[in-house]
Amino acid sequence: MNSNPTILAIESSCDDTSAAVVSGGEVLSNVTAGQAIHAEFGGVVPEHASRAHQRNIVPTVAVALKRANVLPEELDAVAFTRGPGLIGSLMVGVSFAKAFALARGLPLIEVDHMKAHVLAHFAEDPKPRFPFLCLVVSGGHTQLVVVNSPLDHEIIGKTIDDAAGEAFDKTGKMLGLDYPAGPRIDKLAASGKPVLAFARPKMDGLDFSFSGLKTSVLYTLRKEIEQSPNYLQDNLADICAGVQQAIVDILIHKITKAAEQTGIKEIAVAGGVAANSGLRKALEQRGQEKGWNVYIPKLAYCTDNAAMIGVTATFKYQLGQFVGQEVAPAARL
Ligand code: KG4
Ligand code: ZN
Repeated sequence: MNSNPTILAIESSCDDTSAAVVSGGEVLSNVTAGQAIHAEFGGVVPEHASRAHQRNIVPTVAVALKRANVLPEELDAVAFTRGPGLIGSLMVGVSFAKAFALARGLPLIEVDHMKAHVLAHFAEDPKPRFPFLCLVVSGGHTQLVVVNSPLDHEIIGKTIDDAAGEAFDKTGKMLGLDYPAGPRIDKLAASGKPVLAFARPKMDGLDFSFSGLKTSVLYTLRKEIEQSPNYLQDNLADICAGVQQAIVDILIHKITKAAEQTGIKEIAVAGGVAANSGLRKALEQRGQEKGWNVYIPKLAYCTDNAAMIGVTATFKYQLGQFVGQEVAPAARL
């Protein structure tokens, strides 16, 4: 078996259609088609998402192959996100991958979206050394993971309510910002000051909670707007800076605790919220204070992308972990 396989990878778990070609673990192309339609509805509408995936998947794969300068007959396997995610969205990627593999006689590799976020670090250099600790922060998940080897991941902390990305998106909605609000809050926060100290949860252990922050923002806004109706418009940048600071503080506090408990100094962050400039800066700073080696993926490898699926599939290919045509998507894994 080829230990440096060339793999076509597909990601379609939420609202981005992405295709990548990864050869010998190296990313040759990574093409992502976003779905602007969801901003109009204040969140991802599953039915719209699956229809957009259907429109996007064929051209996205064609561009990924072209940019990689790889012909279908040069591929060794097809990989796809099996879950977790929106079932209709996953169905499009899984069906495409199965049909492509069947037509070309290629083996299929299924990938867990959350493990792929963690392994996105292997799409570029420097790569973390095992065991490393990874904070995975996305729109649907917030997890602290001890990564013992490429496919041995142990979850030591998770959110008990909202995910970090949801905390950004839901508070952003209260502020009148379009979905996804995370990047918009990030941008606005850059010109504001975190003068408002929103509530931080008092949670023992390594689990997270963000619902108190949401309530705290809601009550603060209500009180201030009663006194001055233009409060939101006049203070938007400062409010965003306060929200971002609170979320970043919660995340940095827990990863510091996890690093102390496990004694691990290889520290990584992954997922869409890892694109947040406040979090990136705070993690670098904490890393310097604590003597950690900090790993932060480039922006395209933080948000959903097929490169991370291809990199994860490369590890699975090398271990001979393939699936048959009977494989089905799974909203939860
Ligand atoms: O990993 P991801 O692309 O998709 C999921 O698997 O969920 O994460 C999407 C989440 C959204 O909640 C979005 O608001 C958030 O990542 N996000 C950000 C930033 N960029 C994306 N949150 C804060 N700051 C950003 N710059
Ligand atoms: Zn994701």
